[in-house]
Amino acid sequence: MYDLLMQLKDYTSDDYVPLHMPGSKRNTELFSMGNPYGIDITEIDGFDNLHNAQGILKKGMIRAARLFGAEETLYLVNGSSAGIMAAICGATKKNDTVLVARNCHISVYNAIYLNELKPIYIYPQEITDKSRKSTGIYGKVSPQEIEKKLERNKEITAVVVTSPTYEGVVSDIEKIAQTVHRHNAVLIVDEAHGAHFPFSSAFPQTAVKCGADVVIQSIHKTLPAFTQTALLHLNGDRIDRERVKRYWNIYQTTSPSYILMAGIENCMTILENDGAKLFETYVERLRLLRENIESLKNISLLETDDISKIVLIAKNGKELYNILLNKYHIQLEMASQRYVIAMTAVGDREEYYQRFWQALQEIDRDFGRQNDDEESVTQAGLCIAKPKMNIYEALNYKAERIKIDSAQGKTAAQTVCFYPPGIPLLNPGEEVTEEIIAVVRSGLAQGLDAMGVYRDEEGDYILCLK
Ligand SMILES: Cc1ncc(COP(=O)(O)O)c(C=O)c1O
Repeated sequence: MYDLLMQLKDYTSDDYVPLHMPGSKRNTELFSMGNPYGIDITEIDGFDNLHNAQGILKKGMIRAARLFGAEETLYLVNGSSAGIMAAICGATKKNDTVLVARNCHISVYNAIYLNELKPIYIYPQEITDKSRKSTGIYGKVSPQEIEKKLERNKEITAVVVTSPTYEGVVSDIEKIAQTVHRHNAVLIVDEAHGAHFPFSSAFPQTAVKCGADVVIQSIHKTLPAFTQTALLHLNGDRIDRERVKRYWNIYQTTSPSYILMAGIENCMTILENDGAKLFETYVERLRLLRENIESLKNISLLETDDISKIVLIAKNGKELYNILLNKYHIQLEMASQRYVIAMTAVGDREEYYQRFWQALQEIDRDFGRQNDDEESVTQAGLCIAKPKMNIYEALNYKAERIKIDSAQGKTAAQTVCFYPPGIPLLNPGEEVTEEIIAVVRSGLAQGLDAMGVYRDEEGDYILCLK
């Protein structure tokens, strides 16, 4: 039977350019750890236990803290998702109120559900394109907005923000941390997309150095480390570290893979020994690529705080994504209604940028000819969902399937989001509006992957409260 392994081998022996995660980019000339079967073990003598680390794993985590600039660091083998849930549940008690930037990843809302928290939301402003049209991209989280919410809601115990975002938008974490601490709350930063920040001055300062109490980084996204590997960093004494560790134990497997953990340590060795050279070459190539893309007429490059993210604004994101994939064998990280993201990393080969640039020049020329009319701009836009009930309450209600087109005014019983990026358009307990229906419809029409939408011959359904 043609199985996953066969498909992986076929795919990886073809000429696809990986402008997506993981940051190792399948670059076996730069990175290698031998045959995984030969080093796969469990918690045998001499190899420590992640859930009660005293030996080699403890030493590794101390090394990680030093390398990433934190006071204490924990390994994650279940992605940043597990770290985010551990941080939020550890920083709060059941029924606490938390302040959350509404553009957070789904794992944040899962933590809200698990600890039955009451969220108050901040809505970052949308970034518009050069002709002031909607892009569907969230901008920075405003420290002033955070201040206002904290002033008005003294019961807030924790604040959660994503920085950088998937699209490379970085907020002023230093100011946010000062504000949050003045109000005696803790700051948790989802830095899943910023693990590379400490390794070149071309990137923004990491939240670890800006005063955040907990920072979670997916090293698999932007560094040469295996998928699922991530780090949870702890700083200061505002956060109850023992509580965070309790949840860190709960949300991770009792059989953490030694291959994944050795992969984290191999990543550190690469960074310690060759990081400076690798990042120098990478940043040089990246700058040249960005400079080239900026000269295009019809595809525009979004200015991002994190230059590693190549965010291209297009009239129809999925169309651009499909052309790059089907005609040029360039696999991007994601497509949204109005933009695409190409993820770059130290694992990239020179050839990838050359092929990407070549393809973009050709597409830019053809796109201009085909798509001159303004009508062809796809509907995007951020919609502000209205919470009517808490997430955990809504998830405990009876639910029914409702055709999307008849769902206006109903209350969602499940998360609806495009994945990626995994930012809920609707959380359980939020009202379904005409605007949200239109955005879901336009994404589905483009072929985006929508979680929480069920499809059959008769139509598209979502779960709503009965
Ligand atoms: C902003 C953000 N935070 C957290 C996560 C979860 O990270 P992981 O896949 O390592 O669990 C993602 C995943 O894409 C993300 O985009």
